[in-house]
Amino acid sequence: MRHPAKGGRARLLAVTSVLTMISAAVLAGGNTASAAPGCKVEYTITNQWSTGFGASVAITNLGDAISGGWTLEFDFPGNQQAGQGWNGTFSQQANHVTVRNPSWSGTLATGGTANPGFNGTYSGTNDKPTSFKLNGTTCTGTVPPPTDPPPGPGNKVDNPYSGAGVYVNPDWSAKASAEPGGSRIANQPTAVWMDRIAAIQGTTGARGLRAHLDTALTQAAGRPFVFQVVIYNLPGRDCAALASNGELKPDELPKYKSQYIDPIAAILGDAKYANLRIVAVIEIDSLPNLVTNVSPRPTQTPQCDVMKANGNYVNGVGYALAKLGALSNVYNYIDAGHHGWLGWDDNFSASAQLFATAARASGSTVNNVHGFISNTANYGILKEPYFTINDNVGGKSVRESKWVDWNRYTDEVSYAQAFRQEAVRAGFPSGVGMLIDTSRNGWGGSARPTGPGPRTGTVDDFVNGGRLDRRIHLGNWCNQAGAGIGERPKAAPESGIDAYVWIKPPGESDGSSKEIANEEGKGFDRMCDPTYPGNPRNNNNMSGAKADAPLSGHWFSAQFQELLRNAYPAL
Ligand code: BGC
Repeated sequence: MRHPAKGGRARLLAVTSVLTMISAAVLAGGNTASAAPGCKVEYTITNQWSTGFGASVAITNLGDAISGGWTLEFDFPGNQQAGQGWNGTFSQQANHVTVRNPSWSGTLATGGTANPGFNGTYSGTNDKPTSFKLNGTTCTGTVPPPTDPPPGPGNKVDNPYSGAGVYVNPDWSAKASAEPGGSRIANQPTAVWMDRIAAIQGTTGARGLRAHLDTALTQAAGRPFVFQVVIYNLPGRDCAALASNGELKPDELPKYKSQYIDPIAAILGDAKYANLRIVAVIEIDSLPNLVTNVSPRPTQTPQCDVMKANGNYVNGVGYALAKLGALSNVYNYIDAGHHGWLGWDDNFSASAQLFATAARASGSTVNNVHGFISNTANYGILKEPYFTINDNVGGKSVRESKWVDWNRYTDEVSYAQAFRQEAVRAGFPSGVGMLIDTSRNGWGGSARPTGPGPRTGTVDDFVNGGRLDRRIHLGNWCNQAGAGIGERPKAAPESGIDAYVWIKPPGESDGSSKEIANEEGKGFDRMCDPTYPGNPRNNNNMSGAKADAPLSGHWFSAQFQELLRNAYPAL
């Protein structure tokens, strides 16, 4: 399955867009009575040239309301100098920067955000500061777990992963343990996929939803506990790829509602599961396709045109959000593609806006959305350490390299953080958080570069010599040869990121490399065939897929073994 297509061909923008300088917005706070100190900071480089840059710093107060003024502190990692600022008073000693509240606003409500910004100078690289303190408290993006409010109607926690255990799917775990060396990861939490109506009751070798939830209660043993479920059965599913086509026809929205979402909502809403924190990943590979793979783009597919015209992705997602979001124990995260799909300027804002439209469809509101997930079942690296979007080599920007191809992002962390802000601009609540699927984006092993590429050749030599993501093309998505297990699941790893998660269970195929008859609605997508020379969605490159792959979702031992070998961090 997955990521049928990035799509954004180069769209050359003459001028780097400058983020609007938002005036300090102090939002209405929630309940302040029990909040512990906590804060979240998003530092965005809004534009940059050879010696200067502009940056905006979004500071969200997750703790008690602040009334007597606030102070933010951080260190520049390089020789940056903050110059003129706004919405705050900036001062700098060596590389230590202090920002004080503007004289006209010394308050910051619980949940409120202040948006100071500044223009600065630098030489060499312009890496972002990595740690921030607000009134002396290090901003981890979450409130420390002991003071999280307990789940209850209208009282969801900010980050469900914070201080919580996460469900280990025993069905997947058994397959992983049966592989040589597999026990090294078999105890990791992976998501449970409701990939067809029958999965609700259970299928051969996979228990049903209730049985999973009952097992989750046992594993939880009274602790705060996350259960991850993928909602993945839209009408006309996966319109730009065939490998994960689903069982419902493009017009079967009524069946999606009554035979799929309603029964799932009834189970999740059972009072006995009220204390679980159920993370629902909503419909991967659907809405982004309506942006990137529709007419008149060259990446268009007829099926995506149908799904755009009939509205059943938008209305189906709205329905799922409304039904599940109404439950006090469910946290909805909408699939937000990945940087190699929506990271181009012509895909990025349009996607956030379409998500907002879907979040308001079928009686839903944006408040049913807890956040977004990127890289689900994809292979995009978390961080490319050896080049940035701002590097120039041989008189050319990294954005002009074949690999980056005018994308605005080089990796998933930078993409996810920026997408979070874009979603807020599109109307989502300011507290939305991001998840990143890291199950197969490790790219370790002996072929992993250990330093930057040469600066003496072309920009392609530089990027290709240093990039960790070793796919043939960023748009390749099926059973990628050379991939490895990525970062282990982890709560609050970066500002704005609620967790690294393993949504795609390692070892489960993305699609068959040859046609295989089946009763799951799965098609054969040649992006899973290693001999396929590609299509406009991967700019006509070889697919990079592994040979001898079974149907999507089925166990692929050879891939599992390679993922273990190329794990990064190593196992
Ligand atoms: C398949 C699903 C499967 C999931 C997780 C998808 O590609 O279509 O059937 O559950 O991957 O492996």
